[in-house]
This record gives sequence, structure tokens and C-alpha cells, in this order.
Amino acid sequence: MTRLNILTLSGSLRRDSFNTALLREAERLSAVDRFDHFDGLGRLPHFNEDEEYPTPPAVAELRHRVQNADAVLIASPEYNASIPGALKNALDWLSRPAHDGGPVLQLKPVGVIGASPGPFGTVRAQLALRQVLHKMNARVVQQPEFLLFEAHQKFDDDSRLPDGTPAQKLLSELLDALAQLTSQPQQ
Ligand SMILES: Cc1cc2nc3c(=O)[nH]c(=O)nc-3n(C[C@H](O)[C@H](O)[C@H](O)COP(=O)(O)O)c2cc1C
Repeated sequence: MTRLNILTLSGSLRRDSFNTALLREAERLSAVDRFDHFDGLGRLPHFNEDEEYPTPPAVAELRHRVQNADAVLIASPEYNASIPGALKNALDWLSRPAHDGGPVLQLKPVGVIGASPGPFGTVRAQLALRQVLHKMNARVVQQPEFLLFEAHQKFDDDSRLPDGTPAQKLLSELLDALAQLTSQPQQ
């Protein structure tokens, strides 16, 4: 089995975020892959075309880590039926070419997951996120879709998905699909 380098991005800056907990759970579930959690979305400046160059250090770091990853896993909350501004800001930065290369998410395999305490499990945020990633020409896992509704009832006291639960099984399947997509040649 190939060992993947997976960069993870949580769209939530919240300390006790369900979405960040999902990413920790993904790492725990994965037997072989190496996870790199980028927790600097809050440090990225607001995107401004007037201040793109020289590249702000936090943006350069994110681009570098995306570039070094075989795949990216994004866990996003739903804010007002879309993705949080901090995540959209990061994606806007990543959509732009570095002065010495192209946009780093182009053709990158990406998995999309999300958790919400509400009944819809981030379905609208995921649609919005997929639309942005499609425009950026990322390669996004289509199936399975991982949506965790009523997330506050699904995690145990250690913020883990209990072993054997449907949510944990589905997250494993999503990781398998991401690995499979990563192993396929780029079109
Ligand atoms: C500004 C804002 C807007 C929100 N809008 C939605 C929404 O549209 N749909 C939803 O299911 N939850 C919504 N929520 C609730 C979030 O799902 C909830 O705060 C969740 O815990 C955020 O994810 P996190 O735990 O990873 O921080 C909203 C929360 C905030 C702060």
C-alpha cells in the first residue's frame, strides 16, 4: 500500500471544532498515510490583488505544504449555507499562481468532508466548496459523500467517532476513495 502525504485543512478556527476533530479522526483511522495539519488559515491576510507580491509568508507556507502533499483533505463547517470566509480566503490565495509556478491545487486530489450539529450535515457548504474546487480544476472525490449531521451527538467525550459506527466506516471509505483517486493518472 502506498503511503500518502495528506495535507488537511479545517475551515473552522474554533478550538473545539467538530470539523477539526474529523480531521484528527481521519488521521487516527488511516493506517499508513502521513498527515500534515495546516492550522494557519487564520494567519492568512485577506486576499488583495494589490498585495499579492511579494507573497505573504503565511501564503507561501500554505502553498509549499499543498505542493508537497499527494492529496488534500478539507473539513468545512457550513456558515450561512456556504463555506466560512477563512476557507474561501485560503482557496482564493491557492487559486492564484505563485511567481515561480502554477496554482498548486490544480489537478490535486481533494477529499471534502464536513460536520454540523444541524440536521443537514454541511450539504450546502459542500456544494459551494465543490463549485469552487471545480473552478480551480482540482480533482475532487465524488463518492462517497461524507456529511456528519447532529455532530454533537456523534463524537464521544474524547472528540472521537466511536469504533464501528457508520460515520467512522464512511470516513474510512472516503479515505480509501481519496487514495484511489491519488493513484490514478492525472487526465
Ligand atoms: C456564522 C455562522 C453561521 C452558521 N450557519 C450554519 C448553517 O448555515 N448551517 C449549519 O448547519 N450550521 C450553521 N452554523 C452552525 C455550525 O454548523 C456550528 O457552529 C458548527 O459547530 C461549526 O463547525 P465547527 O464545530 O467545526 O466549528 C453556523 C455557525 C456560525 C458561527
